[in-house]
Amino acid sequence: MAEAMRFQDGESYESMMGVWSALVGAPFLDWLNISTGAKWADVGCGNGASTELIVGKAKPALVEAIDPSDAQLAYARKRHQAGLANYTLGSALDLPYPDGAFDVAIMALVLFFVPEPARGVAEMRRVVRGGGSVAAYAWDLEGGGFPYEDVHVALIDAGVGPLLPPHPEVARLDELKRLWTDAGLVDVETREITASRAFPSFDAYWLTAASSPGIGQVLSKLGPEQVEQIRKSAQGSRRSGELVVQGRAHAVRGRVAG
Ligand SMILES: C[S@@+](CC[C@H](N)C(=O)[O-])C[C@H]1O[C@@H](n2cnc3c(N)ncnc32)[C@H](O)[C@@H]1O
Repeated sequence: MAEAMRFQDGESYESMMGVWSALVGAPFLDWLNISTGAKWADVGCGNGASTELIVGKAKPALVEAIDPSDAQLAYARKRHQAGLANYTLGSALDLPYPDGAFDVAIMALVLFFVPEPARGVAEMRRVVRGGGSVAAYAWDLEGGGFPYEDVHVALIDAGVGPLLPPHPEVARLDELKRLWTDAGLVDVETREITASRAFPSFDAYWLTAASSPGIGQVLSKLGPEQVEQIRKSAQGSRRSGELVVQGRAHAVRGRVAG
């Protein structure tokens, strides 16, 4: 069985992915256009980056946030703005919430990690009331939209390859639409969301990328010479100065009928 990516450090996650999550999450929340005072479920909340954005931007009545990683939740519970959120250890496959408890449920950068994506979507649908929203976004991994794609390519060129989530295919626009429609959701729509982030140098980008579990767990098993070769390959012809990197996510939204 392929090695799983481990999210064990909420602090390094923040710079590696939390910043990206906020950059993509802001236009995603604008697109959902949920009224203030709503009840939210943030499924796969990780270190609370998506939860904090919901609290700060969507002004909810409450947010129930759930994730299977204790380490991520420990960081999430310390976050400033997320004081209103309640964090629970658990899985998207078996949400510990009653039917119809929420106005909206989301997965931010999570669906491709869920071992049975269709069951995860069905669970979100179950816990949202009639008329409520079920939505998600995920990096377009197959289309090269992951923000550290250059390092992924360098790892593939070196013959080692990055670790990937178990279901990268669910981030395709057609798959998102199919999953949402098959779950019985209505008014299903998809879209692309891009975000840019500036790193002060290639080295800053490389160090941040190396703290991604899918990259760091692979590099940690290689010798220093091979790591340096991969670093140079990812750097390509870039020399000094700021590096602006783009990420591309695919998003989906749908409504529970009723
Ligand atoms: C890339 S992080 C996204 C975290 C957060 N939503 C954000 O926007 O930054 C992916 C998260 O999915 C979580 N995850 C993995 N398997 C899961 C499952 N079966 N149910 C819920 N979350 C899961 C991981 O623990 C990790 O925190």
